[in-house]
Parts: sequence; C-alpha cells; structure tokens
Amino acid sequence: MIVTGGGTGIGRATARAFADRGDRVLVVGRTGHTLRETAEDHANFRILCLDITDTGAPERIVETALREFGRIDVLVNNAAIAAPQMLSAIDPGRIDEQIAVNLRAPVLLTRHAIDALADTGGTVVNLSTAGSLGRRAWPGMSIYGASKVAMDFLTRTWAVELAPLGIRVVAVAPGVIATGMGERMGSTPEEYARFLEEMKPRIPAGRVGNPDEIAWWIVQLAQPQAAYTTGTVLAVDGGASIA
Ligand SMILES: NC(=O)c1ccc[n+]([C@@H]2O[C@H](COP(=O)([O-])OP(=O)(O)OC[C@H]3O[C@@H](n4cnc5c(N)ncnc54)[C@H](OP(=O)(O)O)[C@@H]3O)[C@@H](O)[C@H]2O)c1
Repeated sequence: MIVTGGGTGIGRATARAFADRGDRVLVVGRTGHTLRETAEDHANFRILCLDITDTGAPERIVETALREFGRIDVLVNNAAIAAPQMLSAIDPGRIDEQIAVNLRAPVLLTRHAIDALADTGGTVVNLSTAGSLGRRAWPGMSIYGASKVAMDFLTRTWAVELAPLGIRVVAVAPGVIATGMGERMGSTPEEYARFLEEMKPRIPAGRVGNPDEIAWWIVQLAQPQAAYTTGTVLAVDGGASIA
C-alpha cells in the first residue's frame, strides 16, 4: 500500500487502518515527525519523506514500495493542499502549487505505479471532495475545487483505461472532516473550530465527520469484495452534498 499525505488526518487514519489489518504501508509526506507519529514503531510501516511534486518523486515512491514490500496492491492519492482565494485576489503561484500537488503529482505517481498495480490487480483510490460534487459552487475555493472535479474525471477515465489491466480506480469524496486541514489552509485553531461548528446545521447527519469514517471506506473499496466497483466517486459526507 502507498498512502500519500500519510502523516496527518485522513491519510494517517487510512494508513493505520490498512496496517491494523496486517497490510504493509508506505506513508509519504514532507514532514518526518508526523510520518513517524503515524507509524508509531508499527512493524507494518515504512516512511518516505519527500515532496510529491519534486522531480523524480513518483519513481522514488514506487521503487521504495517495491523494494520494501515487493508489490503494490493499493495506491491512495490523498495528499492535497488548499489555498482559499477569491478570483479577484488570486495569486498565480498559489494556483500552480495547488495544481501541482492535487493534480499533477497524482497523475504522474499513478502513471509510474501502473505496472506494479497490474501485477497485483491493484486499486487506485483518489481523494476528491463532496464540496465540488454535482453543480455546486464554492466561493473562495475555485482552484482547489477545480482540482478535485478533475480528480473525479481522472477517476472515471482511468477506470476505463486501466480496466483491461485488472486495475480498479475509485474515489472517495469526503464532506467536512475534522482533520486540522483548515489550520493548514491558514485558519487559526479558533477559526477552524468555529468553521466546524457553523457547518453542523448544514449537514443532515448533524455533525462533522472524523478521519476514521473516511479511512473505513477507503479500506473497503480496496478489498477483493469490491471487485465490481470501478470509476465510482463515493460521497461520504453525512448527506451534505444532497441537502
Ligand atoms: N478534511 C476535510 O474536511 C476534507 C474534505 C474533503 C476532502 N478532503 C481531502 O482529503 C484528503 C486529506 O485531507 P486532510 O483533511 O487529511 O488534510 P491534511 O491533514 O492537511 O493532509 C494532507 C496531507 O498531505 C501532505 N502533503 C501536502 N502537500 C504535500 C506534498 N507536496 N508532498 C507530500 N505530501 C504533501 C501533508 O503533509 P506534509 O505537509 O507534511 O507534506 C498532509 O499530511 C485531501 O485530498 C483533501 O483534499 C478533506
């Protein structure tokens, strides 16, 4: 298994959920201490500290997984960044950063993993967002949302392209999940806590989600029992996207 962005939030929960089942997991991210916290000396983890947008990163990730485990069953394209900005104030550098991390890097990583995934009849799980599903608008998040709409399209298209190789491609679209991502987007802890509180009445389930509730689905979608599921974008959002 490979989980990008495995040092925090949904990536950490997913990596631990796989490892707890006995799967061997390579967690990838830029921050060594968060990756080590995910691994917690668990024998099933390997850590690779790098920026997924760096030249040569896809090759290093795939080579490391094959060297350590001899196979790749699942690739979880989870790492992403979000830089809220209205169009009127948009900064070209922040556009490029978001597209590089959220879109270009998973494209190249998945491309480099094809042969290994074909050998195992493996699964690619892309992280989308329920915030950009359907005909929704999302003021201030146009570039992030566009990168996630693109992930949905890649998911469907790769599912068809890679089906002859026995590779499935699915996406999970989380709703509002309490991961601390808002703080990494620039909010203070107080602002992020207020945002989570304000979201509750807009979610039919009446609460925000937790990372384990997303990780559970990622693990399920990677199981052999899900063999007839490909190209699907699964919303896991307490009903927010249909309310
Ligand atoms: N939380 C939500 O409410 C929510 C809702 C919908 C969708 N999602 C999606 O779910 C996924 C996980 O989100 P999250 O909430 O768990 O966010 P998060 O905690 O901020 O996790 C993102 C991870 O990506 C890593 N990362 C960022 N840039 C990277 C780079 N250039 N190279 C390598 N790693 C990089 C970060 O680690 P380093 O900074 O250490 O590299 C971090 O561990 C994302 O795709 C996000 O868009 C989240």
